[in-house]
Amino acid sequence: MPDQRYRFWRLDDGGQTLVLAAMDDRLPECVYWGGALPMDEDLTTVARAYALDVTGGMLDENPDLSICPEAVRSFPGQPGLILRGADGQALLPRFSFQNAKLSSPGTEGSEPRQTLTLIFADPENGLRYSASFATDPTTGVITAQAQIESETPVHLDWLAAPVLPAPQLSDEMIDVSGRWIGEFQLNRTPWSAGIRLRENRTGRTGHEHFPGLILPERGASNTAGRAFGFHYGWSGGHRMVAEELPDGRRHVQFGHASGTESAPATRFSTAPLYVTYSDTGLNGIAVAFQRHLRDRIVTWAKPGTPRPVHYNCWEAIYFDHDLTELKDIASRAAALGAERFVLDDGWFGQRDDDTTSLGDWTTDSRKYPNGLNPLIDHVHSENMTFGLWFEPEMVNPESDLYRAHPEWALGRGDQTLGRQQMALNMARPEVRAYLYDHIAAILSAHAIDYIKWDHNRVLPTPDAAQTRGTYDLIDRLRADFPTVEIESCASGGGRIDFGILQRSQRVWLSDSNDALERLRIQHNAALFLPLAVTGSHVGPRHCHTSGRTIDIGFRAWVAAQRHMGFEMDPRELTEDEAGVLRDVTTWWKANRDWMCAGDILRLDSADPSVIAEQQTARDGSRFVVFSGKADSSSQIAPRPLRLTGLDVAAKYRIHLANRADAVALSRGTPVLKTDDITLSGRYLMDHGLTLPWSFPLTMWVIEGERQ
Ligand code: GLA
Repeated sequence: MPDQRYRFWRLDDGGQTLVLAAMDDRLPECVYWGGALPMDEDLTTVARAYALDVTGGMLDENPDLSICPEAVRSFPGQPGLILRGADGQALLPRFSFQNAKLSSPGTEGSEPRQTLTLIFADPENGLRYSASFATDPTTGVITAQAQIESETPVHLDWLAAPVLPAPQLSDEMIDVSGRWIGEFQLNRTPWSAGIRLRENRTGRTGHEHFPGLILPERGASNTAGRAFGFHYGWSGGHRMVAEELPDGRRHVQFGHASGTESAPATRFSTAPLYVTYSDTGLNGIAVAFQRHLRDRIVTWAKPGTPRPVHYNCWEAIYFDHDLTELKDIASRAAALGAERFVLDDGWFGQRDDDTTSLGDWTTDSRKYPNGLNPLIDHVHSENMTFGLWFEPEMVNPESDLYRAHPEWALGRGDQTLGRQQMALNMARPEVRAYLYDHIAAILSAHAIDYIKWDHNRVLPTPDAAQTRGTYDLIDRLRADFPTVEIESCASGGGRIDFGILQRSQRVWLSDSNDALERLRIQHNAALFLPLAVTGSHVGPRHCHTSGRTIDIGFRAWVAAQRHMGFEMDPRELTEDEAGVLRDVTTWWKANRDWMCAGDILRLDSADPSVIAEQQTARDGSRFVVFSGKADSSSQIAPRPLRLTGLDVAAKYRIHLANRADAVALSRGTPVLKTDDITLSGRYLMDHGLTLPWSFPLTMWVIEGERQ
């Protein structure tokens, strides 16, 4: 029986169902989120079945765990909204229903997407709260966002994107930390009473606090089990609260870092929160985020064109620019297979090291007496396009810009510098205008199709207005130069999130070009990032950030797992090394189209020293497995590697692409060393592939084709 006291909203995308239910005029609670419910499920019963009992030591009714938990309703945990009036007095909002709009499937363009907008009002405090949800059946990601409006200016201390429950049969949560040259480290924290709080107060997405959370249910692995994924698409620093209440309920909140809305205002929004549910393990989360990012978030500058192989000169020359040498390097890079040449830091102002010139965006005439065009022309003559490095939001005190406008710097004059630089105050329109004019002048005067956009220090104080200013500048440049691609870099992977990726097409995942480190970083980043946006370069033989010496084969194959490029000085390559690099690059070019459009699936390796993934074409017709040996194994012989996501009944032809890499210490006759074999999906997923013995820091590359 429908119960008149409830309001319901049901979102479905084929893979998951999310049910919101509100009692009377109150804010709704998410009473179900998980696998798709039958369409005839009775939602009144779902809502009634959700309600918990009450016993001693509790209020007489359990306070709602709503999409914006309200302190005034005795909610025993973190509220979803914390506000103060203009006079600084705390407000205690209490919302009641105003309006709801749920689009039926099929009405949003050709896709059967659903959108839901809910509006609640608090007349006593002059406030309006709205929440929106949008499904996407193709990607499986639900986008949720919250907004608060006030009749008079208020101070916002905290606003959570719509709050969702966390599963009960989950022992731990996985969130992401990291550091320079060590991005995307996964933390597993057990659930316990109280709060797990991640708050990023650096003012940028940061190496330290990628804004993502995965909640695996008990027993979930990469390839099997249930899990829930969250990502907050904001580049200014986020706050995450994962809380277990005294009654056992759990919930997750994401929003901007608290208090970063520094000025009173009448309207505040969260960034979009992207969530997804998987019943295929962590890979279901990874695939949803990968597809959503690639197919919905990124605006491709030249849609339909293959991702070009990059050459970046940073680790070859650093600040030491010489036109003749650069031309030589460019020709060698082209001969290896590069299709885009990126001139990194050091081309502008008087920038001979990192102590000067940020802000002075004019070509250094000492290094380039005839400007950049002679180099660009040469790069074009080698059939490569040209990209250029900028770090727009920064200024060195030692620069013409700072001397002219010290007041444009963000923060106090006596602040601690970072890499001898300060951030510019991007909230100031004149700062954005200056940067727009200088970058636009360079782009207009040269055939440049790519910007590496860097951000090499944290902010003196976090402020959401800084991020909005940066977004505004990039949006303006993108509108006026739509075919120029942007790579987001911040000392490597310090600014990676769906907010910056709405305005860029590639991320520089890490300053570590050490293939071993990169193997791990890439593997974890694939929980959120597809190949198409993830830059990966073949570094120098002696790695500049780890001191390791790594064979060219491993370096090349690790780069070939993502958007491939080179960053070593090509003059250091022996003929053999150049040959290997050319071959792997040729392989990458032959496979990049389907790989860029496919899914990266992390494999569950029986051997902890093996980090393996399977990249599967969108239509399931082919795949490639990269099985990286990160260390020596504890057992002697390789353990079979189980594949995933295949059709159990189909047959797949398996080919060890680099079988020539087998070493003399592999003395036996594992079949893949000599033959291609055909096996069922069932066998490949339930038994797995037995590979030849190999050295640490080597990669097996296995190609599969559905017969
Ligand atoms: C940062 C980037 C590097 C390089 C340097 C240049 O550290 O991450 O890739 O561009 O800046 O100064």
